[in-house]
Amino acid sequence: MTVKDGVTYIDGVLIVNKTYSLPASYAPGGLTSETQKAFAKLQKAASADGISLWCVSGYRDYYYQQSLYNNYVWRDGQAAADRYSARAGHSEHQTGLALDVNNASRYFNGTREAIWLAEHCADYGFIIRYPEGKESVTGFMPEGWHIRYVGKSLAKTLTSQGLTLEEYFGITSQYS
Ligand code: DAL
Ligand code: ZN
Repeated sequence: MTVKDGVTYIDGVLIVNKTYSLPASYAPGGLTSETQKAFAKLQKAASADGISLWCVSGYRDYYYQQSLYNNYVWRDGQAAADRYSARAGHSEHQTGLALDVNNASRYFNGTREAIWLAEHCADYGFIIRYPEGKESVTGFMPEGWHIRYVGKSLAKTLTSQGLTLEEYFGITSQYS
Protein backbone atom coordinates (compact mmCIF):
# COMPACT_ATOMS: atom_id res chain seq x y z
CA MET A 1 0.00 0.00 0.00
CA THR A 2 1.29 3.45 -0.86
CA VAL A 3 -0.15 6.83 0.08
CA LYS A 4 0.70 9.70 -2.23
CA ASP A 5 -0.67 13.21 -1.55
CA GLY A 6 -3.28 11.65 0.74
CA VAL A 7 -4.44 9.14 -1.90
CA THR A 8 -4.16 5.40 -1.21
CA TYR A 9 -3.04 2.90 -3.85
CA ILE A 10 -2.63 -0.85 -3.57
CA ASP A 11 -0.78 -2.51 -6.46
CA GLY A 12 -1.41 0.74 -8.35
CA VAL A 13 -5.19 0.57 -7.77
CA LEU A 14 -6.71 3.69 -6.24
CA ILE A 15 -8.66 2.71 -3.13
CA VAL A 16 -11.58 4.70 -1.75
CA ASN A 17 -14.03 3.33 0.79
CA LYS A 18 -15.11 4.07 4.37
CA THR A 19 -11.57 3.47 5.67
CA TYR A 20 -9.59 5.14 2.87
CA SER A 21 -10.50 8.67 1.88
CA LEU A 22 -9.50 11.29 -0.64
CA PRO A 23 -8.52 14.84 0.22
CA ALA A 24 -10.97 17.57 -0.87
CA SER A 25 -8.30 18.76 -3.27
CA TYR A 26 -8.40 15.51 -5.26
CA ALA A 27 -10.45 16.78 -8.18
CA PRO A 28 -9.85 15.25 -11.60
CA GLY A 29 -12.81 17.31 -12.84
CA GLY A 30 -14.56 14.51 -14.70
CA LEU A 31 -14.38 10.85 -15.55
CA THR A 32 -10.84 9.87 -16.54
CA SER A 33 -10.34 9.39 -20.26
CA GLU A 34 -9.70 5.66 -19.74
CA THR A 35 -12.99 5.35 -17.88
CA GLN A 36 -14.86 7.27 -20.57
CA LYS A 37 -13.40 5.15 -23.34
CA ALA A 38 -14.12 1.90 -21.52
CA PHE A 39 -17.69 3.00 -20.84
CA ALA A 40 -18.22 3.92 -24.48
CA LYS A 41 -17.17 0.39 -25.47
CA LEU A 42 -19.40 -1.13 -22.82
CA GLN A 43 -22.35 0.94 -24.07
CA LYS A 44 -21.75 -0.13 -27.64
CA ALA A 45 -21.59 -3.82 -26.73
CA ALA A 46 -24.75 -3.48 -24.65
CA SER A 47 -26.54 -1.76 -27.48
CA ALA A 48 -25.58 -4.60 -29.85
CA ASP A 49 -27.36 -6.93 -27.40
CA GLY A 50 -30.43 -4.67 -27.27
CA ILE A 51 -29.53 -3.20 -23.89
CA SER A 52 -29.45 0.56 -23.28
CA LEU A 53 -26.96 1.83 -20.75
CA TRP A 54 -26.36 5.48 -19.96
CA CYS A 55 -24.52 7.37 -17.27
CA VAL A 56 -26.71 9.15 -14.72
CA SER A 57 -23.94 10.20 -12.35
CA GLY A 58 -20.23 10.18 -13.08
CA TYR A 59 -17.67 12.44 -11.47
CA ARG A 60 -18.74 14.20 -8.28
CA ASP A 61 -16.36 16.51 -6.47
CA TYR A 62 -15.85 16.51 -2.70
CA TYR A 63 -18.26 19.37 -2.06
CA TYR A 64 -21.03 18.02 -4.23
CA GLN A 65 -20.75 14.66 -2.44
CA GLN A 66 -20.90 16.50 0.88
CA SER A 67 -24.16 18.21 -0.07
CA LEU A 68 -25.68 14.96 -1.38
CA TYR A 69 -24.75 13.10 1.81
CA ASN A 70 -26.00 15.88 4.05
CA ASN A 71 -29.35 15.86 2.26
CA TYR A 72 -29.67 12.10 2.75
CA VAL A 73 -28.82 12.41 6.45
CA TRP A 74 -31.45 15.10 6.79
CA ARG A 75 -34.01 12.89 5.01
CA ASP A 76 -33.23 9.42 6.42
CA GLY A 77 -30.91 9.94 9.39
CA GLN A 78 -27.19 9.25 9.52
CA ALA A 79 -27.27 5.50 10.18
CA ALA A 80 -29.49 4.88 7.15
CA ALA A 81 -27.61 7.31 4.91
CA ASP A 82 -24.29 5.69 5.76
CA ARG A 83 -25.52 2.44 4.23
CA TYR A 84 -26.04 3.93 0.76
CA SER A 85 -24.27 7.28 0.49
CA ALA A 86 -20.61 7.95 1.08
CA ARG A 87 -19.42 10.79 3.28
CA ALA A 88 -17.43 13.50 1.52
CA GLY A 89 -13.97 12.22 0.65
CA HIS A 90 -15.15 8.62 0.79
CA SER A 91 -17.00 8.38 -2.53
CA GLU A 92 -15.56 6.61 -5.56
CA HIS A 93 -17.35 9.20 -7.66
CA GLN A 94 -14.65 11.66 -6.60
CA THR A 95 -12.03 9.48 -8.31
CA GLY A 96 -13.40 9.89 -11.83
CA LEU A 97 -13.24 6.09 -12.13
CA ALA A 98 -16.81 5.28 -11.11
CA LEU A 99 -20.24 5.96 -12.48
CA ASP A 100 -23.88 5.09 -11.98
CA VAL A 101 -25.96 3.82 -14.87
CA ASN A 102 -29.61 4.13 -15.83
CA ASN A 103 -31.39 4.29 -12.51
CA ALA A 104 -29.39 4.64 -9.36
CA SER A 105 -32.03 3.08 -7.15
CA ARG A 106 -33.04 -0.33 -5.91
CA TYR A 107 -35.45 -0.60 -8.87
CA PHE A 108 -32.44 -1.17 -11.13
CA ASN A 109 -31.37 -4.36 -9.33
CA GLY A 110 -32.70 -7.43 -11.12
CA THR A 111 -33.56 -5.68 -14.41
CA ARG A 112 -32.36 -7.04 -17.78
CA GLU A 113 -29.90 -4.16 -17.88
CA ALA A 114 -28.56 -4.99 -14.41
CA ILE A 115 -28.13 -8.64 -15.34
CA TRP A 116 -26.37 -7.77 -18.61
CA LEU A 117 -24.12 -5.28 -16.83
CA ALA A 118 -23.07 -7.75 -14.14
CA GLU A 119 -22.32 -10.36 -16.77
CA HIS A 120 -20.32 -8.20 -19.17
CA CYS A 121 -18.82 -5.19 -17.41
CA ALA A 122 -15.56 -6.96 -16.51
CA ASP A 123 -14.84 -7.46 -20.23
CA TYR A 124 -14.51 -3.67 -20.41
CA GLY A 125 -12.59 -3.24 -17.15
CA PHE A 126 -15.43 -2.48 -14.75
CA ILE A 127 -16.65 -4.18 -11.59
CA ILE A 128 -19.98 -3.96 -9.81
CA ARG A 129 -18.44 -2.29 -6.79
CA TYR A 130 -21.17 -3.01 -4.21
CA PRO A 131 -22.54 -6.48 -4.95
CA GLU A 132 -25.36 -8.32 -3.20
CA GLY A 133 -24.44 -9.95 0.09
CA LYS A 134 -21.28 -7.89 0.66
CA GLU A 135 -22.52 -4.96 2.70
CA SER A 136 -20.50 -6.04 5.73
CA VAL A 137 -17.38 -6.04 3.54
CA THR A 138 -17.81 -2.99 1.29
CA GLY A 139 -19.76 -0.94 3.84
CA PHE A 140 -22.53 -0.23 1.35
CA MET A 141 -25.84 -1.80 0.35
CA PRO A 142 -25.95 -3.51 -3.05
CA GLU A 143 -25.78 -1.08 -5.96
CA GLY A 144 -26.06 -2.96 -9.22
CA TRP A 145 -25.80 0.35 -11.08
CA HIS A 146 -22.47 1.58 -9.65
CA ILE A 147 -19.51 0.45 -11.73
CA ARG A 148 -15.87 1.12 -10.97
CA TYR A 149 -13.11 1.02 -13.56
CA VAL A 150 -10.16 -1.13 -12.45
CA GLY A 151 -8.87 -2.36 -15.82
CA LYS A 152 -9.71 -5.60 -17.58
CA SER A 153 -7.31 -7.93 -15.87
CA LEU A 154 -8.28 -7.09 -12.28
CA ALA A 155 -11.97 -6.76 -13.20
CA LYS A 156 -11.98 -10.29 -14.64
CA THR A 157 -10.14 -11.73 -11.65
CA LEU A 158 -12.48 -10.09 -9.13
CA THR A 159 -15.62 -10.98 -11.03
CA SER A 160 -14.72 -14.60 -11.73
CA GLN A 161 -13.76 -15.12 -8.09
CA GLY A 162 -16.73 -13.18 -6.73
CA LEU A 163 -14.47 -10.90 -4.72
CA THR A 164 -14.80 -7.24 -3.80
CA LEU A 165 -11.75 -4.95 -3.73
CA GLU A 166 -11.84 -5.21 0.09
CA GLU A 167 -11.65 -9.02 0.02
CA TYR A 168 -9.06 -9.19 -2.73
CA PHE A 169 -6.71 -6.74 -1.02
CA GLY A 170 -7.62 -7.77 2.54
CA ILE A 171 -8.66 -4.30 3.65
CA THR A 172 -11.49 -2.89 5.77
CA SER A 173 -14.20 -0.38 4.95
CA GLN A 174 -15.16 1.33 8.18
CA TYR A 175 -15.36 4.95 9.28
CA SER A 176 -13.01 5.72 12.13
N1 DAL B 1 -23.53 5.53 -3.33
C1 DAL B 1 -22.09 5.45 -3.21
C2 DAL B 1 -21.69 4.56 -2.09
C3 DAL B 1 -21.47 6.81 -3.06
O1 DAL B 1 -22.13 7.67 -2.45
O2 DAL B 1 -20.37 7.00 -3.50
ZN1 ZN C 1 -22.36 5.41 -7.56
